[in-house]
Amino acid sequence: MRPKFFVVFMSPNGSTRLVADLFMQQLSRSDQQVASLNLADHLLVPDFMEEIADTENVCLLIGSPVYRDMAVPPVMDFIHKLPKMKNAWAIPFVTWGLACSGIALWQMGKALIEKGFRIVGAAKVASVHAMMRNLDHPIGEDHPDKDDQKQILQLTDLLVSRFETNEIKDLDLETLDYQSPEMSEECKGRMEKAWMIVPKKIDTNACSQCGLCEEECPVQAIALDPYPKFTDSCFDCFNCIQFCPENAIQPAKSLVEIQANIVKRVNLIQERPLTQSFV
Ligand SMILES: Cc1cc2nc3c(=O)[nH]c(=O)nc-3n(C[C@H](O)[C@H](O)[C@H](O)COP(=O)(O)O)c2cc1C
Repeated sequence: MRPKFFVVFMSPNGSTRLVADLFMQQLSRSDQQVASLNLADHLLVPDFMEEIADTENVCLLIGSPVYRDMAVPPVMDFIHKLPKMKNAWAIPFVTWGLACSGIALWQMGKALIEKGFRIVGAAKVASVHAMMRNLDHPIGEDHPDKDDQKQILQLTDLLVSRFETNEIKDLDLETLDYQSPEMSEECKGRMEKAWMIVPKKIDTNACSQCGLCEEECPVQAIALDPYPKFTDSCFDCFNCIQFCPENAIQPAKSLVEIQANIVKRVNLIQERPLTQSFV
């Protein structure tokens, strides 16, 4: 059996994209039919979704960064908008910044199963923490490293060979619920609540209205009016804050305080293994 592989991802800071590219390259090397979509290219989404719906045997690899222990809203929205599938397999993957990978894989897996997909693999990949990219030594620096990347290549090869020999094995959803029962329950409770956004302050004296924040926003959530204004589609990736040349966009809570809390969480949870594939 040779499904067509669709690789879909959201990656404000680049790590999830790197993993998606590895999947793509390895699939192409073994002559698989493959197409990819960066969800930041929102205009391409409807056609891509239609192609998925019209393809007979689909294997969807779908990647999200972990934010606040969960998959990000644009990725979950994409899954929720998919049609009900037949003859379809899926491989959710996440990149995480070593604080906690939470229930993102489970959450994606559950939504994919509800759409008729069979989960045949998954991966969590250690990555540099996107909230720390202004630091000299951010948590997770150098990740995804060579070993992390090797695991992705091996996972791809294994899945391809299972498809080719018709030995596809379904992954039990519970395998993706690997946190302690307390942590898992806490994260699942949060899934029902509105997505938390750290309020932003705009320093209108500093802002030169250059529009870089608007350009770098992966979900087109910023419009200059005449200073940056945010719409509801903001999911708090912090790109606007990190790219602003005048530091005119600031989180209401200081970045230093946020970073100190992340370090505490890394040390408290000490989640291992850092990178893991599930098959
Ligand atoms: C708003 C925000 C929240 C995050 N929350 C978590 C988290 O709960 N746990 C974690 O380990 N990493 C967390 N991270 C780090 C990202 O998961 C990590 O850097 C990821 O690789 C980013 O993916 P990208 O480079 O594809 O954007 C967070 C990053 C941001 C910007």
